[in-house]
Amino acid sequence: MPSDRPAVAVVGATGAAGGTLVRILGERAFPASALELYASPRSAGRRVRTYLGDTEVRELSGDALRGADIVFFAAGAGTSRRHAPGVADAGGIAVDKSSAYRMDPAVPLIVPEVNANRLSEHRGIVANPNCVAIPLTIVLAPLQRAYGLRHVTVATYQAASGAGTGLADELDTQMRADAAGSTPAANAYPHVLHGNVIPGGWTMQGADTEEEVKVIAETRRVLDAPSLRMSVTTVRVPVIVGHSAAVWVELDADADPDDLRALLRDSPGVMVVDDPTAQRYPMPRAVAGSDDVQVGRIRRDAGTDNGIALFFSADNLRKGAATNAVQVAELLLRDR
Ligand SMILES: NC(=O)c1ccc[n+]([C@@H]2O[C@H](COP(=O)([O-])OP(=O)(O)OC[C@H]3O[C@@H](n4cnc5c(N)ncnc54)[C@H](OP(=O)(O)O)[C@@H]3O)[C@@H](O)[C@H]2O)c1
Repeated sequence: MPSDRPAVAVVGATGAAGGTLVRILGERAFPASALELYASPRSAGRRVRTYLGDTEVRELSGDALRGADIVFFAAGAGTSRRHAPGVADAGGIAVDKSSAYRMDPAVPLIVPEVNANRLSEHRGIVANPNCVAIPLTIVLAPLQRAYGLRHVTVATYQAASGAGTGLADELDTQMRADAAGSTPAANAYPHVLHGNVIPGGWTMQGADTEEEVKVIAETRRVLDAPSLRMSVTTVRVPVIVGHSAAVWVELDADADPDDLRALLRDSPGVMVVDDPTAQRYPMPRAVAGSDDVQVGRIRRDAGTDNGIALFFSADNLRKGAATNAVQVAELLLRDR
C-alpha cells in the first residue's frame, strides 16, 4: 500500500452491497484521497453523492482501475475475475465481496473479528465470505476457542436484498400488488417472495443449493476447521434487509447458557439480545442499519450431547458485506 491516503475505487457502486459500501466509507471517514465509482454501462453517467463529493458513476472498462490503491469489488464473481488480478499486478489491493476467490488457497478469506491474523498473507487480493458465513463465524469463533465445535446445524432466514437490488425492489412491488388486490409477479426469483418462504432460488449443486455449499466451505475456512461437521439449509424469506439463522451447535465440552451469554457479550462484533420473556431476541428489523451480529435464544439443546441452540440476525448489506470489506481495508492501512 503506497499511501496512508489511498486512492479508492468501488466496482458495483450502484448495487445493494456496493451502494452500502460507499455510504459506510463516509460513515467511518475512511481516509481516501480519491473515490471513483464504477458499474455496468446501464449506470454510466449516474451521479452519486459521496463523502468526498458528488461523483459520476463510470462504466468499468479496460485499465480504468490501474491508478487505484484499494479497489472494492461488489459486482459479481465474473467482474472480479476479470479485473482483480490487474489491480494486484499494478500494485493495488482488491478487496473482493464476490465468491470468485473465497476458496482460492492463495487468497486470504477474512472476517476481521475472527482471523485478521491471516490478512498479511495476501498478494494483492483479499476475499470476504458470504453474508451468512460472516455472522456465523463471528458467533462460532468464541465457542470454538472456549469449548471446541463438534457439529453445527444451521437453518437460515435470508433477506431479499441478499440477492441484490433486483429482488429487494421486486419484494417491495409484490407487497404493493398484494395490498392492492392484484396478482404479484415474480421475475427476479423463481417464485413470488411476498407472503412466502422459499427454500431455494440459488443454483443447485447436486441436492444442495450453492449457498449451502458456500456457507459450509467458507465457515470451515475462516474458522480453520476443514473437517468441521456442518448441516445447512438456506431459505429466502420476505424481509428486505437482515439475514437470520437458527443454529444448533454440538460442542466438545458442556457449556452453561449463562456462561455462553457472558462469553458472547465479551466477543467482538456480537451483541447479546436474549430476554425472551420480555420479547427481546434478535430480529432483522432490530439489526438493520447496525454492524453488530445480534445473538439470542441461547439455551441447551437436549437433542445432542453438549448441545446448544441459538438464533442470530445481522444486516447482510453491512456486516454481511460492506462493513466487513471496509474493516479489511482499515486493517490494511493500519498494517502498511
Ligand atoms: N447483497 C448482499 O447482501 C451481498 C452480501 C455479500 C456479498 N455480496 C456480493 O456482492 C456482489 C454484488 O451483489 P449485490 O447484491 O450488491 O448485487 P446488485 O444489487 O445486483 O448490484 C450489482 C452491481 O454490480 C454492477 N455490475 C453488474 N455487472 C457489471 C459489470 N459487468 N461491470 C461493472 N459493474 C457491474 C451493477 O451495476 P448496474 O447498477 O449498472 O447494473 C451493480 O452496481 C455479488 O458478488 C454478491 O455475491 C452481496
